Amino acid sequence: MARVTLKTLTKAFGGAPLYAGLDLEVGNGEVVALMGRSGVGKSTLLRILAGIDRDYEGSATIEGVAAAQAPAPGFMFQDARLLPWLTVAQNLRLARPALSDEDLETRLAAVGLGGTSTRFPGQLSGGMQRRVALARAVLANPRLLLLDEPFASLDQALLEEMLALVGRTLAETHATAVIATHRSVEAASLAHRVLMLSGRPVAIAADIRLAGEPGARSRAEVDAITLSLSKDEGV
Ligand SMILES: Nc1ncnc2c1ncn2[C@@H]1O[C@H](COP(=O)(O)OP(=O)(O)O)[C@@H](O)[C@H]1O
Ligand SMILES: [Mg+2]
Repeated sequence: MARVTLKTLTKAFGGAPLYAGLDLEVGNGEVVALMGRSGVGKSTLLRILAGIDRDYEGSATIEGVAAAQAPAPGFMFQDARLLPWLTVAQNLRLARPALSDEDLETRLAAVGLGGTSTRFPGQLSGGMQRRVALARAVLANPRLLLLDEPFASLDQALLEEMLALVGRTLAETHATAVIATHRSVEAASLAHRVLMLSGRPVAIAADIRLAGEPGARSRAEVDAITLSLSKDEGV
């Protein structure tokens, strides 16, 4: 678990600033969904938190340490981004070189991929590659996970499987997590809190604390939250 803070974050890519004095805090063990239309600035925010984008003013800290100096979070990109010339085991060991064979197999089994360690990404389905990417993110840093549209372009069956898997992973690790998404059902299934981003510069148009623990919500509760978030998206 790690506390995340943005203070007076200011950034422009040339032209109108993307952020102009944005403040944000994510508590220890809190799962926050960042929602907002494509281009609003979700991915850039995650890259700043990950220390990948360092070209900004203001401060981004993780446990009080500047994001660029803090231990790298576990990052899951929209596309799995596994290295195609490395096996599943080798891809995972990029995140945790000292991982024993036994632990590696346990991690793979936890994402439903037991027995695949010697396969190459090209021998896995898209859904399986995402599972490897999730396992890799957790290995990289189980305290802080940044997930950038982790469910984009999955069909309904895979979406439900991955939602359940990510939900379980978040519950088991108690990770602090920031999940960029534009689908309400993802927020309703996984998040404690939803931030609706809009405008340029970005404003937090709504900061919504969702009822209940994500893992303990019934299907009906998830559906009700999804519906109410879809209405809020108009803000
Ligand atoms: N490297 C870049 N160079 C120039 N503009 C960028 C770059 N990265 C992002 N942008 C612009 O910043 C805005 C926010 O992008 P992004 O953070 O990717 O949004 P989102 O993830 O919400 O779709 C977009 O208008 C995008 O065009
Ligand atoms: Mg994005």
